[in-house]
Amino acid sequence: MAAPIASNGLKGIKTIRDFDLQDKKVFLRLDLNVPLDNGKITDETRILASLPTIKYALDHGAKLILASHLGRPKGPGDKSNSLEPVGKRLSELLNIEVMLTEEPDSDATRALVNSLKKNQVILLENVRYHAGETKDAPEFAQALAPLVDVYINDAFGASHRAHATIHALPQMIKEKGIGFLIEKEIQFLDQLLVNPKKPYIAVLGGAKVSDKIAVIEKLIDIVDGFVIGGAMAYTFLKAQNISVGKSLVETEKLNYAREMIARIEARNKTLLLPVDHVVANSIKDTAGEVTSGVSIPETQLGVDIGPATIKIFGEAIKNAATVFWNGPMGIFETPSFSKGTFAIAEKLANSNAVKIVGGGDSAAAAEQSGYASKMTHISTGGGASLEYLQGDKLPGLEVLRARTK
Ligand code: 3PG
Repeated sequence: MAAPIASNGLKGIKTIRDFDLQDKKVFLRLDLNVPLDNGKITDETRILASLPTIKYALDHGAKLILASHLGRPKGPGDKSNSLEPVGKRLSELLNIEVMLTEEPDSDATRALVNSLKKNQVILLENVRYHAGETKDAPEFAQALAPLVDVYINDAFGASHRAHATIHALPQMIKEKGIGFLIEKEIQFLDQLLVNPKKPYIAVLGGAKVSDKIAVIEKLIDIVDGFVIGGAMAYTFLKAQNISVGKSLVETEKLNYAREMIARIEARNKTLLLPVDHVVANSIKDTAGEVTSGVSIPETQLGVDIGPATIKIFGEAIKNAATVFWNGPMGIFETPSFSKGTFAIAEKLANSNAVKIVGGGDSAAAAEQSGYASKMTHISTGGGASLEYLQGDKLPGLEVLRARTK
């Protein structure tokens, strides 16, 4: 495993390399929250991203206990959120026995952990089956503590949650640190915050301006320009009295959009908005038409950026040395409204810039476009990557940071 690169966000945090794992009970909190369709895993990115840390722990003689949440189950009866399919897949990928245990705080599980042999690992059933997990309950963490000599968090996608296996538990353990996935995620995200290569643009999309306000606020002094598509662009257009028909607009954010346009201009930075659109009569339509200009007729709504916009956004990407992309340009789940989003992925794929994709929808879009492998980094965390970029402290990281007096 390559030596760590110094990164601002990792100061004071130990990594799995810093511990002697031989015969130790290593509790590895992962984000194995993968999409399932009738019990079948439809995207195993997060499982694959967890493998380097799992393999390292096994190669270094750990007695390995894996823990994760999956979905947002109503309770232990909610079997559609069982980690069973994930355990099976891990077992295939690692070629070892992965034993799923229902009750993490039982004598049977403790005995099993103590008797673990080479090529066996334990996977705790969905930690959210316990009400104490999302409540960050010390009682639940206390019940798990006997399973832990060394605590490792590699659940980047869940590190913005102050939940028991992310936050309460490590406070009870002396030897604690991060795995390789979190280390990589923070190193890449820090490239967007500290001395990014210039020109640097943020390509933002998705439904709502309100979801992106904090990240715009953080990036406004760092980037050279914003490229805004997706439904959030309609609020910016409407703020300039451009007709957007029935498109989604956050009326309560119109003033914010106006202020933001003025602030970007005052800093001599660029703001690119769509100049044409694909429009439909309803979001349920499966086909649309391209507008001849920026206005959208009263009876229609925008569902994707148009070809002239793709050209302009593409030029901006071509000229950039760093690009952060978060949010689709349209309703990319509908094939005829996916052109704009996939074109952005293609432009990124063909550029030499450092191109970092925020998780969630944009990660899914990059994957579906077929260009995922051409990105510098695609975050495995949607909410977590945005919160980190907007300068929020992630509870799952802060709890691991050594305090300096
Ligand atoms: C995610 O999918 O973003 C993470 O696994 C966190 O899941 P949550 O939003 O249900 O906490």
